[in-house]
Amino acid sequence: MGSVIPGLYRKDPGARRKAVVEASGLSEDDLRALFEPALQDPVLDGMVENVIGSFHLPLGVATGFQVNGRDVLVPMVTEESSVIAAASKGAQLARLRGGFSAWSSEQIMIGQVQLTDLKDPVKAAEGVLLRKDEVLSMANAKDPLLVKAGGGARDIETRVLEHPAGTMLVVHLLVDCRDAMGANAVNTMAESIAPLLEDITGGGAVLRILSNLATGRLSGARAIFPKEEIGGEEGVSSILKAFYLAQADPYRAATHNKGIMNGIDAVVLATGNDTRAVEAGAHAYASISGHYSPLTRYSRDGNGDLAGEIELPTAVGVVGGATRVHPAARVCIKLMGVSSARELGEVLASVGLAQNLAALRALSLEGIQKGHMRLHARNLAVQAGARPDEVDVLVDAMAVDGDINASKASELLATSRSRSTIKRI
Ligand code: MEV
Repeated sequence: MGSVIPGLYRKDPGARRKAVVEASGLSEDDLRALFEPALQDPVLDGMVENVIGSFHLPLGVATGFQVNGRDVLVPMVTEESSVIAAASKGAQLARLRGGFSAWSSEQIMIGQVQLTDLKDPVKAAEGVLLRKDEVLSMANAKDPLLVKAGGGARDIETRVLEHPAGTMLVVHLLVDCRDAMGANAVNTMAESIAPLLEDITGGGAVLRILSNLATGRLSGARAIFPKEEIGGEEGVSSILKAFYLAQADPYRAATHNKGIMNGIDAVVLATGNDTRAVEAGAHAYASISGHYSPLTRYSRDGNGDLAGEIELPTAVGVVGGATRVHPAARVCIKLMGVSSARELGEVLASVGLAQNLAALRALSLEGIQKGHMRLHARNLAVQAGARPDEVDVLVDAMAVDGDINASKASELLATSRSRSTIKRI
């Protein structure tokens, strides 16, 4: 599969679908799942409560990604214009130096059991660790399928936490979730071991739930962005200065990380995964040092090019939950050619880095509004009734005037059509 499809953005959606089928090897049936209207009621009704319909968002494809030497077409679901174009731009720049080198850690989720009203929390923690094997067997008995797939509860950790209302013990159950996101498995296990932990410690179990700060499930990526493509040495300096602000100032770091999550969330959503889980993990990880920080880091390499890297928790799966039930999510996973949660995490990290680099490049070179406004102008042209062959002319005309609004789009369309009628006569 090749991930470079020249001129994809200029095609209409039908021609784009054809080009994506040709580049990816998806079948016509697969493709239908991506654009056919609503899911059927029984599927929707099985997903959430009180279903009365479904809600559509655009699904686009980011091009140019190369992750660990493999070309990947990346499906993205987002309501925000420029996000897919920016991810593709970042991918195209990284590609010039070999694409993204990405990695994932093991797929360990943490289930937390909170124990309170303890006489001696430190002794209670020691007691839990002494009976670790018993706790793990009890947890694993709850999910034989996960154990059969090579996963399951692996270890426990204890943390004694001081609080003005009383010292607490938190037991972490470390569960290898393999290719599932694993929330249900982990929560079930945490609930199942709570009575045993109460017996061992003499305390009372309160919360029994996974942690979204998934530090046992990290992904990362690195890439080099050639200086000639990002404004030369001065461009590299500007991007570094923008990064330093994100390091120094949580007000900027929040926006910096929001841009990263523009890309990551869009892929998480396209694959039927839990965007809030990944968001919560990302922002908590950004604060893990005690100072809210950017999730990416940049430096200048020996050639003067920009070296970028990213690391964040990626609690996602490719089996189970909506990834299995939702036909479009299944096809999106197939489109990327990922067959494991690790690989999906690697693509997510690469997308986050591409997205961030593209935003920093645009912000430090020309400001973000120029690109945004061109896309906005495209939307206005389409809304004014422009045909695909008329859209670019209108966008160019609006860009020249710097007058980008709905009435200008209608006015320019009418003028351009009357001119071409005159020519035809
Ligand atoms: C907009 O959705 C995202 C940006 O604000 C990110 C950033 O400032 O780095 C452009």
